[in-house]
Amino acid sequence: MPPLLKLDDVYAQYITRYGTVYAVNGVSLEIGEGEILGIVGESGCGKSTLARVMMMNVKPPLHLVRGRVLLQGVELNRLPRDRLKREVWGKQVSLVPQSVMNALNPTMRVRDIIRDFVKVHNPELDDDEVYSMARDRFEELGLDIRALDLYPFELSGGMRQRVAIAIATLLNPKLLIADEPTSALDVSTQKVVLKLLKRLWNEGIVKSIVFITHDIAVVRQIATRIAVMYAGKIVEVGPLEEVIFKPLHPYTELLISSILTPEPEVKKRGLVEIRGAPPDLRTPPRGCPFAERCPYATDRCRREEPRPVVIGSRLIYCHLRGGGAA
Ligand SMILES: Nc1ncnc2c1ncn2[C@@H]1O[C@H](COP(=O)(O)OP(=O)(O)OP(=O)(O)O)[C@@H](O)[C@H]1O
Ligand SMILES: [Mg+2]
Repeated sequence: MPPLLKLDDVYAQYITRYGTVYAVNGVSLEIGEGEILGIVGESGCGKSTLARVMMMNVKPPLHLVRGRVLLQGVELNRLPRDRLKREVWGKQVSLVPQSVMNALNPTMRVRDIIRDFVKVHNPELDDDEVYSMARDRFEELGLDIRALDLYPFELSGGMRQRVAIAIATLLNPKLLIADEPTSALDVSTQKVVLKLLKRLWNEGIVKSIVFITHDIAVVRQIATRIAVMYAGKIVEVGPLEEVIFKPLHPYTELLISSILTPEPEVKKRGLVEIRGAPPDLRTPPRGCPFAERCPYATDRCRREEPRPVVIGSRLIYCHLRGGGAA
């Protein structure tokens, strides 16, 4: 069975008159049916861009300059935008974007936002049918149906996020991509949002989830597998517990040691601050992208880009682990 989604050597760039931003640089990744993949990395490392690429919602200034995006074997990168809109987005893959407030039209009540969303795919449904579908789903997910009659700004942050997730999954897409769904929320509201995502997954409303965050402590509560991103590249991918308890890439190690609310097991290893900042993606470095900040970097790291190394069920891009020249 092919993976649900497969990225094959993907390069995506923002090409502007001020220059080119190399936001995604050679990412290959598979998302299997039934998994929750957490994507973590510092701000500006290309996570949201990767989310757009995953559903091929790529429009200028963003360009897919190389690689393929396959959804159950179908090359999304070959489909025109109107077909993606009609046949793929919302129905097969849905994205809850990073700024939910922008995603929900502030001048429309939730029920009208839902009506417009559903009718793109099911123009034959009348308004009452759409509303009853929305009511059923809200009830199924434990959301207050009174929210349907409100405007987005009348909802609390957590409720707004949950409503956005409920709308995005109304048509039972196989894959849900949630971009920083908990970042603006306090810890107890974060838990409510995580619970909703798990419920969608447990009940099979969605088959797989991509959960994007800069917060390892949050991803730990939901993901089954984790991909660590740095400077537009994936540096390590593997099963959640393995990556958290035995990180193999120096960046993963530092990222885990630097989290603000470490788990007791991690705390024992001590808190470290990652010095420096990620590279400017207008001029990405040669060699390993992390070399400049890596405590173990050698000349080779600065010169040669590491190739992926398979260790058990993990993939690591690091010369220390034996990654040869690309
Ligand atoms: N519309 C745009 N035009 C030009 N550059 C952009 C645009 N959007 C993002 N970028 C740049 O692309 C790079 C990757 O950004 P992206 O938003 O994907 O990162 P991110 O990991 O999601 O960050 P954050 O954690 O802050 O959300 C950054 O250098 C960013 O400045
Ligand atoms: Mg982002």
